[in-house]
Amino acid sequence: EKGGWSSFMAKEISEEPDAVANTILGRVHEGEVVLPELAGLDTMLSDIDRVIIIACGTASYSGLLGKYAIEKWARIPVEVELSHEFRYREPVLTPRTLVVSISQSGETMDTLMAVKYAIANGARTLSICNTQGATIARESDAVVYTHAGPEVAVASTKAFVAQITALYLFGLHLARVRGELAHADGAKSIAELQAIPKKIEQVLKSAPEITQLAKWMSDTRAVLFLGRHVGYPIALEGALKLKELAYIHAEGFAAGELKHGPIALIEPGQPVFVVVPSPRDPNSLHAKVVSNIQEIRARGARILAIAEEGDVAVLPFADEVIRIPLAAPLFEPLLTVIPLQLFAMELATAKGLDVDQPRNLAKSVTVE
Ligand code: M6R
Repeated sequence: EKGGWSSFMAKEISEEPDAVANTILGRVHEGEVVLPELAGLDTMLSDIDRVIIIACGTASYSGLLGKYAIEKWARIPVEVELSHEFRYREPVLTPRTLVVSISQSGETMDTLMAVKYAIANGARTLSICNTQGATIARESDAVVYTHAGPEVAVASTKAFVAQITALYLFGLHLARVRGELAHADGAKSIAELQAIPKKIEQVLKSAPEITQLAKWMSDTRAVLFLGRHVGYPIALEGALKLKELAYIHAEGFAAGELKHGPIALIEPGQPVFVVVPSPRDPNSLHAKVVSNIQEIRARGARILAIAEEGDVAVLPFADEVIRIPLAAPLFEPLLTVIPLQLFAMELATAKGLDVDQPRNLAKSVTVE
């Protein structure tokens, strides 16, 4: 039941701190990730030479974040592919390929068929799934469950943050098994992850501000989302949420791609959400994104920045700044996605739409 919330989506967003905490629960011991469900698979995990992540929709964006984390920590090539594309292009699979499927429902037909294809073609399979005993989990060699609890609203929210959490746990486990990560570095990342639930609670406090913003923007016809590095999958997710809930044309771009085409879309008044990397980022992506903001601002864009607390560099150029607590770069998406979920929900609400049951969509897509 909705338990006092206006919608299941609102309730599920409020449960995001628990979704992350419960997915970590019982899986950390003395600064190391412990995944009993993968016991006995160390030899296989040491032998694989490639990971292919398959998923659809929101789950595929968690997959992109999984790629960034797994490659960084475990130093193994990772590709991410939409399940329905993967299966029909004769992908190269060997017994040393690990195909990781991600699915909240565990029943998405496109992903299930892709997993079956991977098995039939000799790959090893692991699934990340939120539903105990689901078909995809049963078909796979192994499963790492997310513990987000049942997700009822069609738009995925708490399952997404739980998927990122599970992928990061798996990445740390894989890195250790393969001898790629020093104990101290792994322990530091685990501590970062364990600190996330409290930080999400912090972000949730900006909800009234976002409700206001959504009300002002209720007649907006198009919204763009920009992000770079781990902010890029979040830009894609922000756009998907807005499309599915508020029926507004929305597109997410990698900020570096702007000058390769999308900047032509910018006209006076165009709202653009920008996921701003931390100014402490070692790759200096912050400066690059701030300069992207200046470029589009000069062409009249209305900038809605999601930026770290204390980042003053964005202030002169942003029309609105939504603050997130400090986190290491890989962990920022678990925070930056929250305002975008809230925004899509509030804009749909402001338009009088049903946020739990958007038109034309089903919670679980069980046909190809
Ligand atoms: O159950 P799954 O995680 O396999 O579902 C995948 C997508 O259908 C799902 O994430 C969809 O994109 C959501 N409606 C997004 O909010």
